[in-house]
Amino acid sequence: MSRVAVLKGGRSLERQVSLASGARVEDALERLGHEVVGIDVGGDLFTALHDCAPDVAFIAMHGPGGEDGTVQELLEVLGIPYTGSGVSASARCADKVLAKHALRDAGLPTPDWVAFTDTAFRDLGAGQALDAIEQRLDFPLVVKPVGQGSAIGIKFARSAQEVPAAILAAFSYDPKVMIERFVAGRELAAGVLSGRAGGAQALPIVEAIARDRDFYDFTARYDIGRTRFACPADLDAALAARVQEVALAAYELLGCYGFARVDMILAADGPQILELNTIPGLTGTSTLPQAADAAGIDFDELVGRTVELALTRARSTV
Ligand SMILES: Nc1ncnc2c1ncn2[C@@H]1O[C@H](COP(=O)(O)OP(=O)(O)O)[C@@H](O)[C@H]1O
Ligand SMILES: [Mg+2]
Repeated sequence: MSRVAVLKGGRSLERQVSLASGARVEDALERLGHEVVGIDVGGDLFTALHDCAPDVAFIAMHGPGGEDGTVQELLEVLGIPYTGSGVSASARCADKVLAKHALRDAGLPTPDWVAFTDTAFRDLGAGQALDAIEQRLDFPLVVKPVGQGSAIGIKFARSAQEVPAAILAAFSYDPKVMIERFVAGRELAAGVLSGRAGGAQALPIVEAIARDRDFYDFTARYDIGRTRFACPADLDAALAARVQEVALAAYELLGCYGFARVDMILAADGPQILELNTIPGLTGTSTLPQAADAAGIDFDELVGRTVELALTRARSTV
């Protein structure tokens, strides 16, 4: 058995979800017989890790700081094995635009988009290109901060008048903003797990179904009771296999490890990848644990296997 530091909380806007994920992971690790040290991540992380000298760190953090390679890099410096994707995959997936470039270059489906930084907008007059951008992508458009999660800062623009305010709102979360083509369709999440013997497996697909069917009010998904999840999603076998194939290809392309959740919209012509979450929610209502469960992997096994994979990677890179 190992001494496992569970890193949770942190300063991102997804702090509360992370605390819930972390608490649930701690319970599972205790049931598995590990010695568990919970760390609410803050300015004293280095000291806390040094004092507890864990065999492995379970990173149960979401959003900037925890999911984007920052904490991963610190753990590398300290020589502490950690769960989930490495620094490079974490950084690339946390930046939705870098991930989308990689997907598009590899021929994997992702909605067309344009991205720019606040510097381009303020100092280089990128605002004047808005007309051209709007024409290329067509309405409705989705405006998002590049590095956030949990739908934070995302706005839909139905017309040109709504774009500037949506962009300004997104800039308040991130110096990089993207404008993406809106894709109508069913909302799917595909979990992927690395295998103990190498290779990765796509889990059964989960569909998020909003109770009131307002396309634009996607925040419904995050209000308890306004969304229900179908797991496995009601898809015919060939389509489900195609969605899993796309998710697995994206996971491998970006070099993810341990686990990840690929968010997609199922459009009329097939799945379109929105993003990859390298540390998906692990709370009682999160979709990755539900999907693992549907594949016969209960939460304790999911957590145990994720820790084992972290130790395996550390051994193979020594
Ligand atoms: N291009 C798009 N077309 C339609 N809906 C979108 C699009 N982009 C985002 N959404 C909606 O917003 C939600 C969050 O977007 P996503 O890119 O997954 O960012 P995050 O989950 O990191 O906030 C999606 O699950 C979907 O409901
Ligand atoms: Mg998402």
